Amino acid sequence: MPTILVTGGLGFIGSHTVVELQQAGYEVIIVDNLSNSSIEVLDRISKITDKKPIFEQIDLREKSEVEDFFQRYTSIEGVIHFAASKAVGESVEKPLLYYENNIASLIYILQELQRKEKSSFIFSSSCTVYGQADELPVSENAPFKQAESPYGNTKQINEEIIRDTCHISANIKAISLRYFNPIGAHSSALIGELPNGVPQNLVPYITQTAIGLRESLSVYGNDYPTPDGTCIRDYIHVVDLAKAHIAALERLLKENNESNYEVFNIGTGKGSSVLEVIKAFEKVTGQALPYKIVGRRAGDVVSAYANTYKANKELLWKAELTLEDALLSAWNWEKKLRGK
Ligand code: NAD
Ligand code: WQD
Repeated sequence: MPTILVTGGLGFIGSHTVVELQQAGYEVIIVDNLSNSSIEVLDRISKITDKKPIFEQIDLREKSEVEDFFQRYTSIEGVIHFAASKAVGESVEKPLLYYENNIASLIYILQELQRKEKSSFIFSSSCTVYGQADELPVSENAPFKQAESPYGNTKQINEEIIRDTCHISANIKAISLRYFNPIGAHSSALIGELPNGVPQNLVPYITQTAIGLRESLSVYGNDYPTPDGTCIRDYIHVVDLAKAHIAALERLLKENNESNYEVFNIGTGKGSSVLEVIKAFEKVTGQALPYKIVGRRAGDVVSAYANTYKANKELLWKAELTLEDALLSAWNWEKKLRGK
């Protein structure tokens, strides 16, 4: 089976994808600088899969280390590139950190792939590139909107860099996956999301509130033009999302791709409001969730959910797990993390 490099493979989505890759028989090499993850995740992955992936602690901003890495591992056929900084608010405070980490690392990896005879490259993009789409569900041909943050801008620039590189490099085939809102954890509760400090995202805030770490959830606005006034998102189970990477990788390895740069939305296709997520969490866990309505959060779009037609048809991939499955797995992970 081919050898696949997973950058950021000890992070939230990367760790779940490594599990799926190993279970599908791929040889996996993880590169991570541990800037937003812990080395313990490596053992936890091995516990699930019974196989330890190769691990290299490398900072992908170090061009010479990236070069040296690719010289040492010449058998790599595919790269799944998760490594990036991802906190929207922090990117406003530290734009240069985000531009350097998210853009320089991508360039150094693509420069190495240009030297190889052929390679397959999967990139972690985001629904954030669409901003508030004019039409919902949003499909892949919707235009980019002015980014709301340096983080969002890096994803737009990243996609342009990959498109332009593929345009002149027939030896690189690439797919950008535009994730909607990834949530949940592996059914083993051995791996999951590890937010740094106070969570900025809805589901980790919910689970930390339910476990008693936070007093109450602030719902950012109930005066949006939606049925219950709260914002709508497409929450996708991280295990379904991980499987989409396998589908995308196989498309490229089997040369089923239609062009050497393609883009796919990865979501469930179903929108849920913040209040619906709270209700679903309460129902599935039996936990009452204290919450209060507060003002809107700057930069939030009203509604975003995916048109998944292209991914369903071309990648032969479809989200299988429900919002309830995802919330229950997130809760089980939170409980395990806190020893409860
Ligand atoms: P994460 O922070 O959990 O994982 C990223 C991993 O990359 C971490 O383990 C971190 O230590 C590592 N990393 C960061 N910079 C690095 C560098 N310079 N060198 C080596 N390793 C480095 O994030 P995640 O939620 O798993 O997200 C993975 C990818 O998906 C990111 O590109 C993110 O922008 C994208 N994405 C995430 C979401 C989301 O809501 N989680 C949504 C859309 C897109
Ligand atoms: C979801 C909904 C909030 C927290 C972010 C990034 C996006 C992508 C995914 C990477 C919104 C509401 C949240 C809280 C709340 N990441 N909310 N109280 O903003 O859709 O997307 O993560 O690419 O780029 O922007 O996700 O989980 O922060 O918010 O009411 O304490 O929950 O207003 O409506 P978001 P989120």
